Amino acid sequence: MTSEVALEAEAVKSDGVGLDRLKRLMRRGTDFLGCEYSVLGGAMSWISERNLVSAISNAGGFGVIACGAMMPDMLDAEIAETRKRTDRPFGVNLITMHPALSELIDICAKHEVSHVVLAGGLPPAGAIERIKGRGAKLICFAPALALAKKLVRSGVDALVIEGMEAGGHIGPVSTSVLAQEILPPLSADVPIFVAGGIGHGGLIAGYLEMGAVGVQLGTRFVCAHECIAHPDFKKAFIRASARDAVTSVQIDPRLPVIPVRALKNREMESFARKQREVAELLDRGEVEMAEAQLQIEQYWAGALRRAVIDGDVETGSVMAGQSVGMVKQEQTVAEIMGQLVDEAAHALERRSGHA
Ligand SMILES: Cc1cc2nc3c(=O)[nH]c(=O)nc-3n(C[C@H](O)[C@H](O)[C@H](O)COP(=O)(O)O)c2cc1C
Repeated sequence: MTSEVALEAEAVKSDGVGLDRLKRLMRRGTDFLGCEYSVLGGAMSWISERNLVSAISNAGGFGVIACGAMMPDMLDAEIAETRKRTDRPFGVNLITMHPALSELIDICAKHEVSHVVLAGGLPPAGAIERIKGRGAKLICFAPALALAKKLVRSGVDALVIEGMEAGGHIGPVSTSVLAQEILPPLSADVPIFVAGGIGHGGLIAGYLEMGAVGVQLGTRFVCAHECIAHPDFKKAFIRASARDAVTSVQIDPRLPVIPVRALKNREMESFARKQREVAELLDRGEVEMAEAQLQIEQYWAGALRRAVIDGDVETGSVMAGQSVGMVKQEQTVAEIMGQLVDEAAHALERRSGHA
């Protein structure tokens, strides 16, 4: 064997070592989700619809439909259309404060959706039983250790821990700190997926080695060819660097708004205006707090739609995580997934001394 051939054979062998290790570390996650790689395509309102969701599942990951503000008949159609495009499993993300939550759960049950993700706060009374009682696995977001323990006690099947590097609505703590606080004490009890700021497979390897069973990515999938986002929305992602993805500011202490991470633009001013408007309604006693918060959420849904669907990236909300700086071009979902898997496998291979 010439030295070149020997080197090539070694490279192939060590490639296998990293990939084997990656698959082993992901096994709990892939068994739980029923897919090849435990990479969840994080639900993104207006973006995670039939095309992107099916493409992620077809590429070996796990696509998740973002129900967002959809009404039950729309979700019904979206699930049916996604099924036509993939025979692999996918999930549905429901927002806890949606006024038709029970009906949306029923639609998921009608289609025998295998996994439901509940976002936007602790599950309201009865929702856990209603979802699990119909045979679906329930995944919830845990923004802190105490809440993670509470969710596990109340019977959720898996957790997503999402740090403030993520795009969209965020909590106050970084992914790296949440991972250190939550993975060591809880990863043996329940499968945990890590989200927020992941753009390179090397980091996926790191979280798996800490006990995560998989990861969830949103930002990295926006510039997939299969994603229906407007070309100008994708261009804004490709141009942006990490520091352009900033958080919204709370204008009035009486109105607790969940911060949103998005690319800097003129929309930030209109959000400040909207907050003042809603705070005045609260002051005058014209709305209750729950209604005020719903108005803020409806504002976001509209602002995100303007950017994603209409391509208005100046007055719409271009929600994006800090990993936007690692989005350099449009690629197919299969290419993105392949790259993440290769990077993770190589990182594991290096750490095991095989590279
Ligand atoms: C444009 C956009 C919209 C999002 N919409 C939702 C949503 O409707 N529901 C939800 O639970 N998470 C939403 N997210 C969060 C993602 O599901 C995912 O957890 C997050 O993007 C992961 O962090 P990353 O952006 O750093 O990859 C959104 C994220 C983005 C970038």
